[in-house]
Amino acid sequence: MEIKRPIYMDSHATTPVDPRVFEAMLPYFSEIFGNAGSIDHNYGAVAADAVKKAREQCAHILNAQSEEIIFTSGATESDNIAILGVAEQYAAKGDHIITCVTEHKAVLDTCKHLQMAGKSVTYLPVDHYGLVDPGQVEDAITEKTVLISIMAANNEIGTIAPIKEIGEIAHKHGVLFHTDAAQAVGHIPMDAKEMNIDLLSFSGHKIYGPKGIGGLYVRGSKPRVKLSPIVFGGGQEKGIRSGTLNVTGIVGLGEALAIARKEMGKEEKRFRQWTMQMFDAFKEAYPSVMLNGHPTQRLAHNLNVCFPGIESKALIHLLRDDVSISAGSACTTTSVEPSHVLLAIGRTVEESHSAVRFGLGRGNSEKEVGLGIKKVYDYLKQLEKLK
Ligand SMILES: Cc1ncc(COP(=O)(O)O)c(C=O)c1O
Repeated sequence: MEIKRPIYMDSHATTPVDPRVFEAMLPYFSEIFGNAGSIDHNYGAVAADAVKKAREQCAHILNAQSEEIIFTSGATESDNIAILGVAEQYAAKGDHIITCVTEHKAVLDTCKHLQMAGKSVTYLPVDHYGLVDPGQVEDAITEKTVLISIMAANNEIGTIAPIKEIGEIAHKHGVLFHTDAAQAVGHIPMDAKEMNIDLLSFSGHKIYGPKGIGGLYVRGSKPRVKLSPIVFGGGQEKGIRSGTLNVTGIVGLGEALAIARKEMGKEEKRFRQWTMQMFDAFKEAYPSVMLNGHPTQRLAHNLNVCFPGIESKALIHLLRDDVSISAGSACTTTSVEPSHVLLAIGRTVEESHSAVRFGLGRGNSEKEVGLGIKKVYDYLKQLEKLK
């Protein structure tokens, strides 16, 4: 099927593989195809070397040690391993987990699953900007709390959580701290040590790496985090995640993070300027437009807005051949339910259905931003006439 190529502005859903990443991956499909576990021969040893290098690249961007990185199939699996793994491993210590209402379903549904199994979970609210209050996190801790799981940056509204403060609180109380950083790693600085993070989930396809690969940082000391596995088999990845390593994907993930480490500062500046420019233009075209998320403590490439009175599905449909954007999380686009994140920040159901999310990416140019603004403007005017 030939696909039309509208301007892509849905980078929170996924990103294209960077050509440099693709180049680095290519030899590992058929030339260097060895099993990284078969190190007794050259094919396996070369693959194992590539995995070693990628592990160092992943560790580097998180200020972690390479032994602290576990490769997984993506952030969903990392979230599951972290939460289920802690719940089981530390069951003798307690059965309580703290998280928040705006988390990704990979965290929320894993917590719900644990509740069905008799564990107790506190879902903290957020303020109008989508920020969780570290004071409320501290108040929610009981002697039974084993884990706090708060996402680093929200995938719908881009709000960046006070991760360092929450990490400090967790450690003060001897509770482990997990953060789903799928939307943060490679976009904003994430320092596992400085931020007191014990477990951190990340994903390849949100940072110009391939789909189906991701990782979990697992703190190796002070404290050394132990996880019960949820998948059993050959004992790869220290027995935490059995299964033959996806060498090609791992090479891509490592390369993507190495590039991001060097380039994210510059990209951040460019994106911030563009998303501000877009919001200003939308405000002029549609004065009742509302910004969703924090005005400054947000991912620079994210812009989530409500156009009250406009059905977001209609706007997205009109834009379909020109600009690809979405109404919110890719995992829930087929759902008619309003976004749980927008409701949590106080939007009404009606307002939630008028929200659109722009996610700028490495491939976007200033010209595309200008064109995007123009197209949104034109279709908003068209839809307004129908009101
Ligand atoms: C915050 C967050 N967590 C988890 C995920 C799931 O990541 P993956 O697609 O790598 O499983 C996503 C992707 O949509 C996300 O945005």
